Amino acid sequence: MSRKILVTSALPYANGSIHLGHLVEYIQTDIWVRFQKMRGHQCMYCCADDTHGTPIMLRAEKEGITPEALIDRVWQEHKRDFDGFHVDFDNFHSTNSRETRHYADTIYTRLKEADLIEVRSIEQFYDPVKEMFLPDRFIKGECPKCHAKDQYGDNCEACGAAYQPTDLIDPYSAVSGATPVKRNSDHHFFKLSDPRCAGFLEGWIQPPHVQTEAANKLNEWLHAGLSDWDISRDAPYFGFEIPNAPGKYYYVWLDAPIGYMGSFQNYCDKNGLDFNEFWKPDSETELYHFIGKDILYFHALFWPAELAHAGFRTPSGVFCHGFLTVNGAKMSKSRGTFITAESYLNHLNPEWLRYYYAAKLNGSMEDIDLNLEDFAARVNSDLVGKYVNIASRCAGFLSKRFGGKLGETDAAATAEFVRAHQEGEIARSYEERDFGRALREIMRLADAANQYIAEKKPWEMAKNVDKQEGREAELHIVCSTAMTLFRDLTLYLKPVLPKLAEQVEAFLNLPALAWGEDWSALPAGHVINEYQHLMTRIDPKKTEAMVEENKASLLPSPAGGGAGGEGATPAKAKTAAQPTAAPSPQTPPPAGEGLISIDDFTKVDLRIARIANAEHVEGAEKLLKLTLDIGTETRTVFAGIKAAYAPDALVGKLTVMVANLAPRKMKFGLSEGMVLAASDERGGPFLLSPDSGAQPGMRIK
Ligand code: MSP
Ligand code: ZN
Repeated sequence: MSRKILVTSALPYANGSIHLGHLVEYIQTDIWVRFQKMRGHQCMYCCADDTHGTPIMLRAEKEGITPEALIDRVWQEHKRDFDGFHVDFDNFHSTNSRETRHYADTIYTRLKEADLIEVRSIEQFYDPVKEMFLPDRFIKGECPKCHAKDQYGDNCEACGAAYQPTDLIDPYSAVSGATPVKRNSDHHFFKLSDPRCAGFLEGWIQPPHVQTEAANKLNEWLHAGLSDWDISRDAPYFGFEIPNAPGKYYYVWLDAPIGYMGSFQNYCDKNGLDFNEFWKPDSETELYHFIGKDILYFHALFWPAELAHAGFRTPSGVFCHGFLTVNGAKMSKSRGTFITAESYLNHLNPEWLRYYYAAKLNGSMEDIDLNLEDFAARVNSDLVGKYVNIASRCAGFLSKRFGGKLGETDAAATAEFVRAHQEGEIARSYEERDFGRALREIMRLADAANQYIAEKKPWEMAKNVDKQEGREAELHIVCSTAMTLFRDLTLYLKPVLPKLAEQVEAFLNLPALAWGEDWSALPAGHVINEYQHLMTRIDPKKTEAMVEENKASLLPSPAGGGAGGEGATPAKAKTAAQPTAAPSPQTPPPAGEGLISIDDFTKVDLRIARIANAEHVEGAEKLLKLTLDIGTETRTVFAGIKAAYAPDALVGKLTVMVANLAPRKMKFGLSEGMVLAASDERGGPFLLSPDSGAQPGMRIK
């Protein structure tokens, strides 16, 4: 029977780049959705960017653009990265949308009608210079416990203590540097402490709605008592203003999950589907949310409680996964293991990562490790050594000797495959999100196929065709059988390796493989195409280059674009960072717009430099390699000015360089400083040059 399934992944924050940690989730969800589609179910995968909140507002301000322009740019980048990894959303929308606003208002209004919203005055830190209330993460000060300086308002990174921002010694605003003052303001709360909510959740938080390990955690939280949830923030805020509450906005976490509905509504409008069929309380459709363990609290407590009391269906399941570590440790910028999606794609094939993640995922909340050596070994041995090998060893004989036309199939050799198909272990493993088990079973079959080929030795048969009677017919059967086995393996791997599977479909001259109950061999007489190379091995040099690139990108970039959701951290750390929660990688909040002292300025060692040499850099789109003479020494600097200057025109010119910038390791070599240039949308970059008389090495002050 065909099922109707709506699937989501958590909405990535619109203020950071997609990295390999995120991809644990998006690849995992994509595999599951592709599997469901191959089974013939109506399965839709909806997602969106999570665009609201203070960090996004401040970042846009810092970049001198509107939040709308910022989230639009990030949306494009996210979309590009997801496409790059073949994450095939049916709809990728934005929470800053008409549809999401509509459902946020609907849910808020219905909760209010149900008497589950309460307005209370609370006291909070306020930045008198910036004229805004400060989220905990934007208040810094001395740790009340260990007295480390410059700690965030919610917990100390030096000693790990958790506290209230009001406990900080000498607090200051990370936005303006001003000393915050305490101020009262009305906030809207969702009354989670209402017995109706606890009563509902008590019954709800169990398998199959959540995994057993998640249920244990959630029950602990529930029995510790749920507090009411603060769902409003004061202006200035980038988000939706609450109806009939001027100056009050929905807190980003209120409208974020509602963004699932918004994205789906947008999809329904484009495709003529009925939104209500999927979201009405007694809906017979299925709804699943894939999430990381850091946001379990929001998805398995707040979200179902909201839905249940606002007249909507609740999720059929919340599928929670663990966090990614790289080489056994938390992703780290300095080690180069905080790997962005973009940089991965610069060096490596996305399907390698899809395969490796799938091999490691088992439907539990355990963390998964990307060990870069194991990654190469595993992919090379399984995909190239076992799987692709089957086709590459047999296909040539078929095209050379039989015009690509298949012969009969050896029933004894396919028996195990037929049994596996009918028994359905692989499908069951995919369904249960134990992709590791599915792949183990698939590789067991691949081993069996290789063993068959090794026993029959088609290459020897081929040598003897003319000498021995019947050898040619035998060769035909062995190679044809191998193609059927290869077809089966491709079918099973297709959710994980969709692009490779498409290449194989073209090679085997088959329509898109669908995963039915029945099994049949490729028929005699079917004509396949010539075998084309399918997949290369991972060269460890490439993974090394990727890590190096991520180390290089550590140093300040003009856009200041750190990855990781700053917006996530306040809420996650405070509400959900219980023992299982791994904090997401953080970048410090945007620097204040405060003034700097002359001492701050003189820290920058600016020198007159003579461009002694300038040349193109092979493979670099934007860079020129400059040799700069600063009197006492020469420096090599890679400057992004290729679009504006021909190297020859630069040689001999004087310009200005930052002489005490930490050397930066780039793909093309070490850059030992920076030249100064001006640009904006009107043009540039324009290199700075001093007035005549200045000499190389002179200090600028
Ligand atoms: N915007 C919120 C989610 C709102 S959902 C209504 C958010 N965004 S996020 O960009 O920080 O994370 C998006 C998803 O990626 C989350 O499910 C998160 O758990 C997951 N991951 C982010 N970093 C991760 C790892 N290092 N490892 C595995 N998953 C990780 O949270
Ligand atoms: Zn401390």
